[in-house]
Amino acid sequence: MAVINIFNPLVPNNIYHGDSRHLLKRIERHSVALSVWSPPYYVGKYYEKDLSFDDWKNLLKDVIALHFPIIKPGGFLAVNIADILCFKDQTMPKIMAENVSRRKVTLSKEEIVAIKSSHPDWNRYQLAEHFGCSEQTIDRRLNGNNIRGGKYQSQTRVFLVGALIEEAAQEAGFYLYDRRIWVKDAAWENSRWHTISYRSVDESEYLYIFWKPGITKVDRSRLTKEEWVNWGSRGVWEIPSVRSNADHDSKFPVELPRRVIKLFTQPGEIVLDCFMGSGTTALAAMSEKRQYIGIDKEKKSVEIAKKATESINLYKKEPEQMDLMINEIEASYGIK
Ligand SMILES: C[S@@+](CC[C@H](N)C(=O)[O-])C[C@H]1O[C@@H](n2cnc3c(N)ncnc32)[C@H](O)[C@@H]1O
Repeated sequence: MAVINIFNPLVPNNIYHGDSRHLLKRIERHSVALSVWSPPYYVGKYYEKDLSFDDWKNLLKDVIALHFPIIKPGGFLAVNIADILCFKDQTMPKIMAENVSRRKVTLSKEEIVAIKSSHPDWNRYQLAEHFGCSEQTIDRRLNGNNIRGGKYQSQTRVFLVGALIEEAAQEAGFYLYDRRIWVKDAAWENSRWHTISYRSVDESEYLYIFWKPGITKVDRSRLTKEEWVNWGSRGVWEIPSVRSNADHDSKFPVELPRRVIKLFTQPGEIVLDCFMGSGTTALAAMSEKRQYIGIDKEKKSVEIAKKATESINLYKKEPEQMDLMINEIEASYGIK
């Protein structure tokens, strides 16, 4: 069981610099109504470059375990994450295929095999001379093309992340309460192999919502009738990705945490994001009049997040002006 350090507790409406595995221990027990975050995805970003696959799995496991004591009974933990679509697997055989749609030379394997049977001693160079093509063409037709990476690169497959998160949460004492799919913009550039395979592009992520046993206040009036119809009761949320992410390259749109916050918390309650990045969850919490606690291990992220929350704080006393400010921020993210 995680040990909580009650000395020097983290204070709401602040963003802290440090590793979540240390700082979560300084959050008061049963104080957080909702923790919503998007961790490293193990896809080679700068903030996860030192993590081995096992380190990454342990990070998620440890962070989830540390949440159990600090979430209120009846409260929630919402994890936004995606499957790893290009997961390097050294044990995977090279994917071989006859890539017929890309052929420049209309020579078939059967034609080569037929000539080879009458000239069994011919090597691929002699066969190439016979057919008037390159020796690589002969090799490709006979042995298949490696359509996923070069000869020396590891093959990649899909790694499903949900089971890992579910197991860690269940072990910590949470129960999987709901799951939603966030449909974002199609990320063609992330699908390195899709043009020469049957694979799909990356265009959705998950939201896994875990519940800590206890009394959960269900207040349907938190959302308007339209909000319930449009997204409150819907399993699939279509929210455009952040367009302008010059300050942090892994931002989620404000609308994503905003919906989770509105659904699962009351005004004034504490919302935690222990992978705060550019401060998106804090902005969403502020726009919904909730308190927030943010943590990030990168000093630069903490600076960006603090700056974003401070600019909103300037408007704090005037709700209409604050809404205006959030609208401006969302517009700059390209989602309004
Ligand atoms: C996917 S990004 C989150 C982006 C954020 N949702 C936003 O909208 O800007 C993950 C963040 O986790 C931070 N991070 C990674 N490992 C961490 C750790 N052990 N403790 C705290 N923060 C960590 C990274 O610096 C990065 O900013």
